[in-house]
Amino acid sequence: MANSGVDKNRRRFLVAATSVVGAGGAAAVATTFLSSMSPSARALAAGAPVEFNVSKAEPGQQLKTVWQGKPVWVVNRTDQMLADLPGLDNRLKDPASDILSQQPEYAKNPHRSRNPQYLVLVGICTHLGCSPTYRPEVAPADLGADWKGGWYCACHGSRFDMAGRVYKNVPAGTNLEVPPYYFMDDATLLIGEDGGTA
Ligand code: FES
Repeated sequence: MANSGVDKNRRRFLVAATSVVGAGGAAAVATTFLSSMSPSARALAAGAPVEFNVSKAEPGQQLKTVWQGKPVWVVNRTDQMLADLPGLDNRLKDPASDILSQQPEYAKNPHRSRNPQYLVLVGICTHLGCSPTYRPEVAPADLGADWKGGWYCACHGSRFDMAGRVYKNVPAGTNLEVPPYYFMDDATLLIGEDGGTA
Protein backbone atom coordinates (compact mmCIF):
# COMPACT_ATOMS: atom_id res chain seq x y z
CA MET A 1 0.00 0.00 0.00
CA ALA A 2 2.91 2.32 0.85
CA ASN A 3 4.34 1.72 -2.59
CA SER A 4 1.08 2.49 -4.31
CA GLY A 5 1.05 5.86 -2.51
CA VAL A 6 4.51 6.55 -3.87
CA ASP A 7 3.44 5.47 -7.32
CA LYS A 8 0.45 7.74 -7.24
CA ASN A 9 2.60 10.67 -6.20
CA ARG A 10 5.11 9.86 -8.89
CA ARG A 11 2.35 9.61 -11.47
CA ARG A 12 0.97 13.00 -10.37
CA PHE A 13 4.45 14.50 -10.69
CA LEU A 14 4.89 13.05 -14.17
CA VAL A 15 1.50 14.35 -15.29
CA ALA A 16 2.33 17.80 -13.91
CA ALA A 17 5.77 17.76 -15.54
CA THR A 18 4.27 16.73 -18.87
CA SER A 19 1.71 19.56 -18.63
CA VAL A 20 4.45 22.09 -18.01
CA VAL A 21 6.42 20.80 -20.98
CA GLY A 22 3.23 20.94 -23.05
CA ALA A 23 2.51 24.56 -22.15
CA GLY A 24 6.15 25.50 -22.70
CA GLY A 25 6.13 23.78 -26.06
CA ALA A 26 2.96 25.60 -27.13
CA ALA A 27 4.45 28.93 -26.09
CA ALA A 28 7.62 28.15 -28.04
CA VAL A 29 5.58 27.28 -31.13
CA ALA A 30 3.55 30.50 -30.78
CA THR A 31 6.73 32.55 -30.36
CA THR A 32 8.29 30.91 -33.40
CA PHE A 33 5.11 31.51 -35.39
CA LEU A 34 4.90 35.19 -34.43
CA SER A 35 8.57 35.84 -35.07
CA SER A 36 8.18 34.35 -38.56
CA MET A 37 5.56 37.01 -39.40
CA SER A 38 6.30 40.42 -40.87
CA PRO A 39 5.93 43.38 -38.46
CA SER A 40 2.63 44.44 -40.07
CA ALA A 41 1.22 40.90 -39.94
CA ARG A 42 2.23 40.66 -36.28
CA ALA A 43 0.43 43.93 -35.54
CA LEU A 44 -2.73 42.67 -37.28
CA ALA A 45 -2.62 39.38 -35.36
CA ALA A 46 -2.33 41.35 -32.13
CA GLY A 47 -5.45 43.34 -33.00
CA ALA A 48 -4.16 46.50 -34.67
CA PRO A 49 -6.84 48.67 -36.34
CA VAL A 50 -7.60 47.88 -39.97
CA GLU A 51 -8.12 50.45 -42.74
CA PHE A 52 -10.93 49.72 -45.15
CA ASN A 53 -11.98 51.50 -48.34
CA VAL A 54 -15.80 51.65 -48.39
CA SER A 55 -15.99 53.18 -51.87
CA LYS A 56 -15.53 49.69 -53.36
CA ALA A 57 -18.93 48.57 -52.03
CA GLU A 58 -21.77 48.78 -54.56
CA PRO A 59 -25.25 49.72 -53.23
CA GLY A 60 -26.57 46.74 -51.29
CA GLN A 61 -23.21 44.95 -51.34
CA GLN A 62 -21.46 43.38 -48.35
CA LEU A 63 -17.65 43.45 -48.27
CA LYS A 64 -15.50 41.60 -45.76
CA THR A 65 -12.30 42.16 -43.86
CA VAL A 66 -10.67 40.72 -40.75
CA TRP A 67 -9.94 42.46 -37.46
CA GLN A 68 -8.47 40.75 -34.40
CA GLY A 69 -8.86 37.47 -36.26
CA LYS A 70 -12.62 38.01 -36.57
CA PRO A 71 -14.63 38.52 -39.78
CA VAL A 72 -15.94 42.07 -40.13
CA TRP A 73 -18.61 43.03 -42.64
CA VAL A 74 -19.13 46.42 -44.23
CA VAL A 75 -22.43 46.91 -46.07
CA ASN A 76 -23.37 49.80 -48.34
CA ARG A 77 -27.09 49.94 -47.48
CA THR A 78 -29.58 51.25 -50.02
CA ASP A 79 -32.23 53.85 -49.17
CA GLN A 80 -34.86 51.07 -49.31
CA MET A 81 -32.92 48.93 -46.83
CA LEU A 82 -32.79 51.86 -44.41
CA ALA A 83 -36.46 52.70 -44.96
CA ASP A 84 -37.47 49.13 -44.08
CA LEU A 85 -35.76 49.14 -40.66
CA PRO A 86 -38.36 50.96 -38.49
CA GLY A 87 -41.18 48.67 -39.63
CA LEU A 88 -39.38 45.64 -38.17
CA ASP A 89 -39.09 46.90 -34.59
CA ASN A 90 -41.92 44.85 -33.09
CA ARG A 91 -40.44 41.64 -34.54
CA LEU A 92 -37.05 42.12 -32.89
CA LYS A 93 -35.63 41.29 -29.44
CA ASP A 94 -33.63 44.49 -28.98
CA PRO A 95 -34.84 47.02 -31.59
CA ALA A 96 -33.38 50.05 -29.81
CA SER A 97 -29.99 48.43 -29.15
CA ASP A 98 -30.48 48.65 -25.40
CA ILE A 99 -27.93 45.89 -24.76
CA LEU A 100 -24.97 48.22 -24.69
CA SER A 101 -22.29 45.53 -25.00
CA GLN A 102 -23.29 45.01 -28.64
CA GLN A 103 -22.28 48.39 -30.04
CA PRO A 104 -20.35 51.57 -29.22
CA GLU A 105 -22.46 54.51 -28.06
CA TYR A 106 -22.35 56.19 -31.49
CA ALA A 107 -24.04 53.11 -33.01
CA LYS A 108 -26.93 53.04 -30.52
CA ASN A 109 -29.40 54.50 -33.00
CA PRO A 110 -32.03 53.12 -35.40
CA HIS A 111 -29.46 52.28 -38.09
CA ARG A 112 -26.69 51.12 -35.65
CA SER A 113 -23.92 53.05 -37.38
CA ARG A 114 -22.10 56.37 -37.58
CA ASN A 115 -23.17 56.97 -41.18
CA PRO A 116 -26.61 55.45 -41.96
CA GLN A 117 -25.40 54.27 -45.37
CA TYR A 118 -22.59 52.08 -44.06
CA LEU A 119 -23.15 49.28 -41.58
CA VAL A 120 -20.10 47.71 -39.90
CA LEU A 121 -20.57 44.43 -38.02
CA VAL A 122 -18.53 41.61 -36.52
CA GLY A 123 -19.64 38.65 -38.62
CA ILE A 124 -20.11 36.16 -35.79
CA CYS A 125 -23.50 34.84 -34.71
CA THR A 126 -24.30 35.78 -31.12
CA HIS A 127 -25.73 32.31 -30.47
CA LEU A 128 -22.78 29.90 -30.74
CA GLY A 129 -20.38 31.66 -33.06
CA CYS A 130 -21.12 30.51 -36.62
CA SER A 131 -20.79 33.09 -39.38
CA PRO A 132 -24.25 33.99 -40.75
CA THR A 133 -24.96 34.29 -44.47
CA TYR A 134 -25.81 37.63 -46.07
CA ARG A 135 -29.31 37.45 -47.53
CA PRO A 136 -30.13 40.95 -48.85
CA GLU A 137 -32.96 39.88 -51.15
CA VAL A 138 -36.56 40.73 -50.20
CA ALA A 139 -39.05 37.89 -49.63
CA PRO A 140 -37.03 34.89 -50.87
CA ALA A 141 -38.99 31.63 -50.80
CA ASP A 142 -36.94 30.06 -47.97
CA LEU A 143 -37.07 33.07 -45.61
CA GLY A 144 -40.66 34.14 -46.14
CA ALA A 145 -42.73 36.95 -47.62
CA ASP A 146 -41.96 39.40 -44.80
CA TRP A 147 -38.16 39.06 -45.03
CA LYS A 148 -36.62 42.50 -45.75
CA GLY A 149 -33.01 41.42 -46.07
CA GLY A 150 -30.40 40.69 -43.44
CA TRP A 151 -28.42 37.66 -42.27
CA TYR A 152 -29.46 34.08 -41.74
CA CYS A 153 -27.41 31.72 -39.58
CA ALA A 154 -27.71 28.23 -41.01
CA CYS A 155 -26.34 26.58 -37.83
CA HIS A 156 -29.55 26.95 -35.79
CA GLY A 157 -31.74 29.36 -37.74
CA SER A 158 -31.05 32.76 -36.15
CA ARG A 159 -32.07 35.79 -38.19
CA PHE A 160 -30.79 39.36 -38.15
CA ASP A 161 -32.08 42.42 -40.02
CA MET A 162 -30.16 44.95 -42.13
CA ALA A 163 -28.89 46.64 -38.96
CA GLY A 164 -27.72 43.34 -37.45
CA ARG A 165 -30.68 43.32 -35.00
CA VAL A 166 -31.80 39.87 -33.90
CA TYR A 167 -35.34 38.65 -34.55
CA LYS A 168 -37.59 37.20 -31.87
CA ASN A 169 -38.10 33.42 -31.69
CA VAL A 170 -34.58 32.45 -32.74
CA PRO A 171 -31.78 31.02 -30.57
CA ALA A 172 -29.43 34.04 -30.72
CA GLY A 173 -30.14 36.39 -27.81
CA THR A 174 -28.47 39.62 -28.84
CA ASN A 175 -27.86 41.80 -31.85
CA LEU A 176 -24.71 41.28 -33.91
CA GLU A 177 -21.78 43.24 -32.50
CA VAL A 178 -20.72 46.58 -33.98
CA PRO A 179 -16.94 46.98 -33.59
CA PRO A 180 -15.34 50.34 -32.77
CA TYR A 181 -14.60 52.32 -35.93
CA TYR A 182 -14.57 55.79 -37.43
CA PHE A 183 -14.24 57.43 -40.84
CA MET A 184 -10.75 58.79 -41.50
CA ASP A 185 -12.22 60.47 -44.62
CA ASP A 186 -15.34 59.96 -46.78
CA ALA A 187 -14.08 56.66 -48.16
CA THR A 188 -11.79 55.24 -45.50
CA LEU A 189 -12.84 53.42 -42.37
CA LEU A 190 -10.52 52.62 -39.52
CA ILE A 191 -11.91 49.51 -37.83
CA GLY A 192 -10.74 48.91 -34.28
CA GLU A 193 -10.60 52.49 -32.98
CA ASP A 194 -13.24 54.94 -31.76
CA GLY A 195 -11.27 58.11 -32.53
CA GLY A 196 -12.27 60.87 -34.89
CA THR A 197 -15.47 62.81 -35.15
CA ALA A 198 -17.09 61.57 -38.40
S1 FES B 1 -24.66 29.75 -34.08
FE1 FES B 1 -26.02 30.98 -35.24
S2 FES B 1 -27.95 30.18 -34.74
FE2 FES B 1 -26.61 29.00 -33.53
